[in-house]
Amino acid sequence: MLQITHLSKTFDSLKAVDDISFDIKEGEIFGLLGPNGAGKTTTISMIASLLKPDSGKIIIDSLDIDKDLKKIKKVMGVVPQDMAFYEELTAKENLIFWEKLQGLRKKILEERIKYYLEKTGLTGRENEPLKKYSGGMKRRINLIIGLIHQPKLLLLDEPTIGIDVQTRLNIYQIIKEASSSGTTILYTTHNLQEAEELCHRIGIMDLGKILARGTLTELIKIVEEKDIVLISGNFNADQGQKILTPLKDATILSLKDGKVVLSLEASKRIPVLLEEFFKERISIDDVSIKQPNLESVFLKLTGKELRE
Ligand SMILES: Nc1ncnc2c1ncn2[C@@H]1O[C@H](COP(=O)(O)OP(=O)(O)O)[C@@H](O)[C@H]1O
Ligand SMILES: [Mg+2]
Repeated sequence: MLQITHLSKTFDSLKAVDDISFDIKEGEIFGLLGPNGAGKTTTISMIASLLKPDSGKIIIDSLDIDKDLKKIKKVMGVVPQDMAFYEELTAKENLIFWEKLQGLRKKILEERIKYYLEKTGLTGRENEPLKKYSGGMKRRINLIIGLIHQPKLLLLDEPTIGIDVQTRLNIYQIIKEASSSGTTILYTTHNLQEAEELCHRIGIMDLGKILARGTLTELIKIVEEKDIVLISGNFNADQGQKILTPLKDATILSLKDGKVVLSLEASKRIPVLLEEFFKERISIDDVSIKQPNLESVFLKLTGKELRE
């Protein structure tokens, strides 16, 4: 449904998106998971044709975005991270305005508006101007605008930011529903649980690159053989380097003063490793082992923890 090949975008000297390729099959929810600044919004903006790539190819529903943009726009829905609507108009007026652009018949439009307002818990609030809405309520309207015409491809850029737990669950349900009725979805998030819960396949993105992609099971294979161990204590980066480099079965993933992340063959080796620190009279404050999950995959690939 969507094929991206060698897509790049540079701002001044910053490579925001750096030669990425991936594809999404029909009906699939594909997640782009990465921290702030990874390049997720830049990627989605290019696919939504809001931003021109420097190089690369985007094919949507077998059509080339450079040649058939008009046709593509008809089958695509976009839920941008930065929301834009008419604050003075009511929620319903906004929905009618945006969906008229899609050419939906009035009766169908009315039915769907009713359905999605109900689904997102906004029934009864539809005649209030959006300027009276909370951030979370606006996000829900933003989502409805993107999917009410039931696009073949739906682009969702961090749609659950600033939303309470209950609404978040409602939104997951709406997204899963759209997916099972055949909509293909590209979903960006910096939230590991969200990627695990929602996405059929995930691409891990950092500093403009996709470092790995696959199903959760496939991704976890990257770390399955090894444990990820975080050690913090009273050492600087140089000391850490000196102590850990000679240890054959430990690989340093990231190292800074007071904190190191290691990939280790077996966690039973931890006491031996700590002994090396103690020999240098370094005190250790905390040792934690990450079981193989998406978080440890992310750590292994980026050397960073992904926190909300
Ligand atoms: N219009 C722009 N001009 C300059 N730099 C930009 C612009 N848009 C994004 N960037 C930079 O590109 C990088 C990727 O940003 P973005 O795609 O928004 O990441 P994400 O959505 O993953 O947080 C960041 O370093 C950001 O500061
Ligand atoms: Mg973003």
